[in-house]
Amino acid sequence: MRIIEEIDEMRECAAKTRSLGLKVVFVPTMGCLHDGHRELLRAAKKSGDLLVLSIFVNPAQFGPKEDFASYPRDMVRDLEIAGDEGADVVFTPKAADMYPEGYSTFVEVGALGDKLCGASRPGHFRGVATVVLKLFNIVTPDTAVFGKKDYQQLLIIRKMARDLDLGLDIIGVETVREPDGLARSSRNRYLSPEEREAARCVPEAIEAAKEAFSAGVNDASLLTGKMKKIIEKQPRAVVDYIKVCDTESLEDLGMIETNGLVALAVKIGPARLIDNCVLEKGAPRRTGAL
Ligand code: PAF
Repeated sequence: MRIIEEIDEMRECAAKTRSLGLKVVFVPTMGCLHDGHRELLRAAKKSGDLLVLSIFVNPAQFGPKEDFASYPRDMVRDLEIAGDEGADVVFTPKAADMYPEGYSTFVEVGALGDKLCGASRPGHFRGVATVVLKLFNIVTPDTAVFGKKDYQQLLIIRKMARDLDLGLDIIGVETVREPDGLARSSRNRYLSPEEREAARCVPEAIEAAKEAFSAGVNDASLLTGKMKKIIEKQPRAVVDYIKVCDTESLEDLGMIETNGLVALAVKIGPARLIDNCVLEKGAPRRTGAL
């Protein structure tokens, strides 16, 4: 496994691979890898010849009061996991090379970026789209792999790829969960044992929405009401949003006619946890737009 820090070296490595007629497959991450990332790497391994994993904690996607400085970093463990999962290259660019003095060009993602997480994290998806486009330009992947836990991120990246004619395939991978249902996330590390226990309310709320929908409830306010009740039973949990929305536009839905995205963000102690599911008539466990 090769570790590359320099942008030009990464570019050359990808160009050489492509010149041999081989496919580059890419998993961008911010490191602190967990089982969710392992699944991304496994899906990627099957989808190309040169598997590139990037590890870069992107300052442009954190708000001024967010956790950029304290975001968990664990390069030793990350390299172990990357090796285990068969990564060929780990690309670890430096912030000063990605955003040199005077850097000023950003991707505007439009209305999709203002909904759900974008409403409470202004500029977040502009930062995500910008770094992902930069990484795509450096790594030049044929295929890139993202997790469905970050549904909105995946939707925005797919749209960016279409809108800007990037000409690459984007694969979405199912959310990986802890045994009690909590979606795996690097930020789960922030939770104390008591907060971790309280965090169970997030997947419980998702399950309650699925059950109610299976039982015929398709009114968005009834579904979100049930979820809110579960979250509010937990004194440590503070709801950021609970929404039922269109799987493509992320516009609020009053009623699920055919399918709808249920998404929520909840703050528990220092962690902001997100989760989602797509509810679909006749096929409730399918994944909608993604
Ligand atoms: O999902 C993430 O880890 C990040 O948002 C990404 C896609 C690597 C961009 O920094």
